[in-house]
Amino acid sequence: MTDNPYVTLSSATSLDGYLDRADPPRLTLSNDEDFDRVDEVRARNDAILVGARTVRRDNPRLLVRSFARRARRQVAGMTSSPWKVTVTASGELNPNSAFFTAGDTPKLVYCPTSEAARIRRRVGHTAVVVELGKDVAMTDLVADLADRGIRQLLVEGGGTVHTQFLAANLVDELHLAVAPFFVGDQRAPRFVGDARFPWTSDRRATLADVRQIGDMVLLRYALSDRFARHDAEDHYRLATKSLAMGMS
Ligand SMILES: NC(=O)c1ccc[n+]([C@@H]2O[C@H](COP(=O)([O-])OP(=O)(O)OC[C@H]3O[C@@H](n4cnc5c(N)ncnc54)[C@H](OP(=O)(O)O)[C@@H]3O)[C@@H](O)[C@H]2O)c1
Repeated sequence: MTDNPYVTLSSATSLDGYLDRADPPRLTLSNDEDFDRVDEVRARNDAILVGARTVRRDNPRLLVRSFARRARRQVAGMTSSPWKVTVTASGELNPNSAFFTAGDTPKLVYCPTSEAARIRRRVGHTAVVVELGKDVAMTDLVADLADRGIRQLLVEGGGTVHTQFLAANLVDELHLAVAPFFVGDQRAPRFVGDARFPWTSDRRATLADVRQIGDMVLLRYALSDRFARHDAEDHYRLATKSLAMGMS
């Protein structure tokens, strides 16, 4: 059996824990420096996962923006941007949305077996549709990604997906970037929904790093014992890649 990918969950929230406002247009939580930090995190991962509602609502491209980072990936033999992954039961995905049309990296759509034929007809020409049984369990999804060679997975929302990954204890590292304002509207999506999470007042998560990013703060939590080894290896990999690119 292949090891599960190393999972980083990255999210920006308001001070009151919201991911967005209730109604369009999309709320911008990050500042420019934080968007650039997220771009670097993306560049270090093999695949990015977002829920289907994020695809519908935000129409994200999910590409590495920086030319230098795309070049660094290519030198390392990777696709210029990570694979894109989404999950749906309704199959309400527009094949003309940026998730499917932007970039030439592989795209995967996970769904229940009962919906697979219908979803394949809709987006099968632009993505690989993977059926995962009666209901899609995130444990099965990450195991399937591992079998496909994904070693590092970045989970980028929204709250429904966060909740399942965190409650199933599948996240190795959590990045929470907090923006300095409130949303104050319970109709808006939250960072997570109700669930039994592995971290409670009796079992506190480990805070690994706190960093100020302009007017935001980045909280980095180590949620598994793979964190320390991965952190050290990641620094080594980055240093050797920079040398290969002639960068300091
Ligand atoms: N601030 C941030 O960093 C950030 C990042 C990303 C997103 N967001 C925001 O988050 C909001 C969306 O979050 P959300 O919680 O509403 O939705 P979401 O997590 O993006 O997507 C939920 C959808 O994913 C599919 N899904 C999730 N788990 C599934 C499972 N086990 N099996 C089958 N399908 C599954 C379902 O799609 P179907 O409905 O198609 O069945 C479900 O409705 C948006 O407003 C977006 O802007 C914010």
